[in-house]
Amino acid sequence: MLVSFFQFISGQKKDLESIVEFGDVNLIRINKYFGSFAYSFPIPNDIAIEVYDLKFKSPLLAASFKSEKDLIDIWLKLGLGGAVLKTIMSEKRNGNARPRLQQVRLERQACLVNALGLPGEGVKLFSNSIIDSPLWSNDKPLGLSIGGENFDNYIDCFDTIEKQLKTTSINNYFYELNISCPNTDTGSCLGDSLSDLEKLIDYMRRYSSKAISIKVSPDWGDEHLKSIGDIILAKEKMIVNAGNTQFKTIEYLGLKKDSLPRGGGGLSGLAIFPRTLQMINLFSDMNLTIMATGGISTVHHLNAARDAGATLFGMATSLIMDPYCIPKINYNLSKGY
Ligand SMILES: Cc1cc2nc3c(=O)[nH]c(=O)nc-3n(C[C@H](O)[C@H](O)[C@H](O)COP(=O)(O)O)c2cc1C
Repeated sequence: MLVSFFQFISGQKKDLESIVEFGDVNLIRINKYFGSFAYSFPIPNDIAIEVYDLKFKSPLLAASFKSEKDLIDIWLKLGLGGAVLKTIMSEKRNGNARPRLQQVRLERQACLVNALGLPGEGVKLFSNSIIDSPLWSNDKPLGLSIGGENFDNYIDCFDTIEKQLKTTSINNYFYELNISCPNTDTGSCLGDSLSDLEKLIDYMRRYSSKAISIKVSPDWGDEHLKSIGDIILAKEKMIVNAGNTQFKTIEYLGLKKDSLPRGGGGLSGLAIFPRTLQMINLFSDMNLTIMATGGISTVHHLNAARDAGATLFGMATSLIMDPYCIPKINYNLSKGY
């Protein structure tokens, strides 16, 4: 409210990203001085789950959207079973111009819409720093999310990270392929080309036995999703992550013309949950191992997604809105609510 009020009186454009940054800085400050008091919640023993060789103390994961280790550390302390780090691209990127993150009210709930455009440090810096990350000491699996503007970018990211990790004893990780990145320069995604996707998975399998999660887009039609499911089904140690944000135009969202770049952005939060459930149903009919991402913030969402066939549950918007949903869901899950 403070940042929003300051933006209003100083005539700046509404920009939720500054508000999130303000919140993040304060969460991290609290972690430094009172972390073990404010954020330490034990995970009930009876909610652990194993997926291939990965042991999750809770089925809740941070979806790929943040790379700051201090924030991820807070969420892990609050009780996440693991986290997928923000998608890493081949080169350093600033992403789209701000404002590029806004809040919208849909289904009478606060949802987010973002057109960040995958800002990040680039894979070289990332792979140098990830090997020394204190996050590995939590003994919780980390997902390394790879993106790209084209096939070669994905190969470059994978090769660079894998080579670096192979020089260490780090073992508790899996890969996630973000094949559905909207808001990038070309606007096309690896997931549009089934042959490239299959070639990429085969290439990764030659050099790594780690589980691979394929993150699909809720914007794709069911036939395309089924074709991706067929590819995944034929490979070993695969997870399908259903799914990413849903693209919506600023007109659809009722936002002002200059509130997002590129005329729209990816919607996340409760409003996309119905499509998440549809995708889970589609993939569970194919007997795939499913991570459900999109609109999960309570144990009721998690139960509905689990009943439909999901095993793991990713969250992004709800971690921004109220990270204390993590211990609440863990507790309710253990009590069987
Ligand atoms: C600010 C923001 C940044 C995101 N960045 C990424 C990203 O880098 N890679 C990715 O695969 N998904 C990204 N996502 C999508 C989320 O991982 C997630 O799939 C989506 O938000 C739906 O889940 P939710 O409803 O729990 O937020 C981002 C989402 C948000 C809100």
